[in-house]
Amino acid sequence: MELKFARQINTYFCKTMSTANYKSVFEALQALFNDSKPSVISGLEKCCEFLRQRFDHYDWVGFYFADFNTETLHLKAFSGIPTDHTSIPFGKGICGQVAVSNKNFVVPDVKAQDNYIACSLTVKSEIVIPLFVNGENIGQIDIDSNTLNPFTKEDEEFLEFVCAKVAVLL
Ligand code: SME
Repeated sequence: MELKFARQINTYFCKTMSTANYKSVFEALQALFNDSKPSVISGLEKCCEFLRQRFDHYDWVGFYFADFNTETLHLKAFSGIPTDHTSIPFGKGICGQVAVSNKNFVVPDVKAQDNYIACSLTVKSEIVIPLFVNGENIGQIDIDSNTLNPFTKEDEEFLEFVCAKVAVLL
């Protein structure tokens, strides 16, 4: 299962990812998940830390997971400045909107968003990618950047695969 998944990812990755930096980060991430056999939370924390270190435009990286009873998202792992927003109602902010829409949300300039929850005054942009398990949107990866408009299609595709990789660990 693991091997098949890795092969599928590699096939897709080679087709879509062009720059060497994403490719090398992707490969190192695979190794991180495969070799350290971490508990889920510590694996997620390592993943957040790793991504934040490897990409200059990733200044805060976190994983939120849904509680469907209370219709809130809960922060389970992150790397970066601690945030007060460890619990976010569905529909609120960029994260809450993704919990409802099930779609990627790329925000080039957070100042242009009405429904946005500010975590830090230094944040200029944000990307949130939903995490699906058996077709259900159960959480998301959220990345804040202190740079204006830094996220490309390549970030979206890369982070979709990070989420797919995490989904099989859960
Ligand atoms: N900005 C997010 C809140 C989470 S922080 O970025 C860590 C939002 O609008 O949902």
